[in-house]
Amino acid sequence: MMDCAIKIPIITIDGPSGVGKGTISALLASHLNWHYLDSGALYRLTALACVMQDIPFEEEDKVAKIAENLAVTFLPQGATLLQGQDVEEQIRTAQAGVHASKVAVLPKVREALLIRQKAFLQVPGLIADGRDMGTTVFPNASLKVFLTASPEQRAKRRYKQLIEKGNSVKIADLVEEIRERDERDMNRSASPLKPAQDAHIIDTSELTINEVYQSVLQLYDAVR
Ligand code: DC
Repeated sequence: MMDCAIKIPIITIDGPSGVGKGTISALLASHLNWHYLDSGALYRLTALACVMQDIPFEEEDKVAKIAENLAVTFLPQGATLLQGQDVEEQIRTAQAGVHASKVAVLPKVREALLIRQKAFLQVPGLIADGRDMGTTVFPNASLKVFLTASPEQRAKRRYKQLIEKGNSVKIADLVEEIRERDERDMNRSASPLKPAQDAHIIDTSELTINEVYQSVLQLYDAVR
């Protein structure tokens, strides 16, 4: 019998924080007119919901329940609603990133979010941005990309973004924070941050956003 199931194309963009995954993924999604999964936002929202409900990050069962029942809506104009309230700015702070990384070590939380992440896979295609998109969530992706850059380079980029938004920060603090987050994301037992065996690794340290974007498009042209 013929297999009539449609294979929806997926490009996974994984890598550590501050490497430009979000920017590259958004460009690709807009160019291809595909759906976009910002998986980090789900961890950030889970952590924020815990803070709002006074649930300590160590209480795995309770945090997993929160993840399972997260009432979230991503609006096309960039707003992110948690229980109807726009929390986009709240989930993008450096502290929200650290909190997300803490709930992300909990296997039950990852399991609860796995189902939600898979639900983003819809025609005509999906750009999935995160840490374990190519290894765990979409192991059959059409193309897997893993972006890297040194902690110093990533801290410089983050510094520029934060200063432009009017925040006052020190580069040395950002390097330290990035190192700590990498350490936690790479060394957790559940779905640690690492490239899939069949991922294309791109070191973005000396590349512009456009150069990275063009490289990914070329890679996709070669596999589709
Ligand atoms: O991509 P981000 O900075 O928004 O992610 C925030 C944290 O969420 C990150 O430090 C680790 C966690 N995360 C994860 O464990 N797995 C993912 N697929 C995405 C994010």
